[in-house]
Amino acid sequence: MRHGTTSGARQETRVGPEAARRRSFAVISHPDAGKSTLTEALVLHAHAITEAGHINGKSGRRHTVSDWMEMEQARGISITSASLQFSYRDAVINLLDTPGHADFSEDTYRVLSAVDAAVMLIDAAKGLEAQTMKLFAVCKHRGIPLLTVINKWDRPGLDALALMDEITERTGLNPTPLTWPVGVAGDFRGVLDRRTGTYLRFTPSAGGAHVAPEEILDPDAAAAREGAAWTTAVEESELLGASGADHDTDSFLAGISTPVLFASAVRNFGVHALLEVLVDLAPSPGPRTAVDGVPRALDDPFSAFVFKMQAGMDTSHRDRLAFIRVCSGLFERGMVVTSARTGRPFATKYAQQAFGRERTVVDTAYPGDVVGLVNGSDLRVGDTLYLDRAVEYPPLPTFAPEHFAAVRAKDAGRYKQFRRGIAQLEAEGVVQVLRSDLRGDQAPVLAAVGPMQFEVAEHRMATEFTSPVTLERLSYTLALRTTREWVAALDAERGVEVLHRDDGVMLALFPDSWRVTSVRRNHPGAVLEPPVAA
Ligand code: G4P
Repeated sequence: MRHGTTSGARQETRVGPEAARRRSFAVISHPDAGKSTLTEALVLHAHAITEAGHINGKSGRRHTVSDWMEMEQARGISITSASLQFSYRDAVINLLDTPGHADFSEDTYRVLSAVDAAVMLIDAAKGLEAQTMKLFAVCKHRGIPLLTVINKWDRPGLDALALMDEITERTGLNPTPLTWPVGVAGDFRGVLDRRTGTYLRFTPSAGGAHVAPEEILDPDAAAAREGAAWTTAVEESELLGASGADHDTDSFLAGISTPVLFASAVRNFGVHALLEVLVDLAPSPGPRTAVDGVPRALDDPFSAFVFKMQAGMDTSHRDRLAFIRVCSGLFERGMVVTSARTGRPFATKYAQQAFGRERTVVDTAYPGDVVGLVNGSDLRVGDTLYLDRAVEYPPLPTFAPEHFAAVRAKDAGRYKQFRRGIAQLEAEGVVQVLRSDLRGDQAPVLAAVGPMQFEVAEHRMATEFTSPVTLERLSYTLALRTTREWVAALDAERGVEVLHRDDGVMLALFPDSWRVTSVRRNHPGAVLEPPVAA
């Protein structure tokens, strides 16, 4: 059943223009690079909120909105946010949240299947850090255009040209700075806007509590004001130009180059420029290609896929949210859509937007938007939903787990609850569940990308599924896919164990890469492949 056909028909004609206004992106960074600060500053700047301090989930910081789980509160981390929508100029910006702590999960990666662009946020003093590189690898694999923001320029840090070299060497991307700092890191005077040649002078505002005023000076005034610092910036900018580091839209969209901005998120500097660049340069949603290789046009009937499941956010309601990214058509709350996997109808009566604790009802949504569907327990990560004409999008990639733990019910009498809970966590993609005859069904192995997932699993098993568990951490760090004929040979190797997933994939677990090398030597023909899907 679809309601509101007249208004629906009118709104459907708006799908194309509405999709064109959307900019859906995520910030990828290492913890502490300033992602929460930047998020807050972007929203602040876009006037979506009137007071800073609303979005951040860090402990001790003003009002926090992303602290659903007790665990999050205790740790001051954000593990369950989803997306944030705000308008800027005539654009609608969807900022999808990637968990910002050291322990990340497959969710962090999956969010990148739902964005059209990403901002790589780098701490000027640290350069490219481990988590940024991991997330970058996913963006590269998916061909997601990347903008780069060098943050914390107000503090002593690396040399700007050296940072550009590091980006080139470690990511293979060609950095094309749009702005160039005047003054070294720690002596941030402002930036040279390389597109106009003007000087954007940095006038610090107190603690970033309001929008920083920006003063624009022409080159002569800039030279008079900043002297040698300006001359150096101009010379370095010319050097960049001569080495082909000027922005080029095609190579940015193709994932070959990355426009770079210099910023101080905590001082609100560079935030305005980032919003402008997102609106002017970042791509709007395009047609998504289905499993059969056919792209679904943006103005085709509604379709979306589930990129994230979230449960246990509100213990009093026991609700479960399935977050979908709209790929085509108009979403209207209340419409009944079909799940491509089960063929079953799904009523979208309760549709929400969730960021932190705040939730707002979503009545309509367009391609690029994120909607949280309540009561999504029939849905799984990767599921496609559609209206009218059937479509199915390719499954989301799974990523190689690096942490493993054998799980058991504390109370053997609660085995039914234990099984139900483990199955649910597996369906939601919180953990992968590996089994073997040797270990039996009572003690499967949980596998995760980040160890935090074990704490989530443990917490939910106790509170939500009423079957407290014990977890025994295993010393494996690597899982490689193998085939049935190799199981016996690999199982016989010291320190190696083969288990299987429910989808039939066999995974050989290793303590480290040295062991992989020696096993490969012993069994030259053994199939041992990374389990990362395309
Ligand atoms: P994250 O979400 O990426 O983990 O980082 P977050 O924004 O929480 O920032 C980490 C720390 O870096 C915070 O300091 C924050 O204030 C600081 N920071 C962020 N951007 C800038 C910047 O542009 N310049 C400088 N100098 N610092 C920046 P904290 O001490 O951990 O927290 P707080 O007490 O300041 O809130």
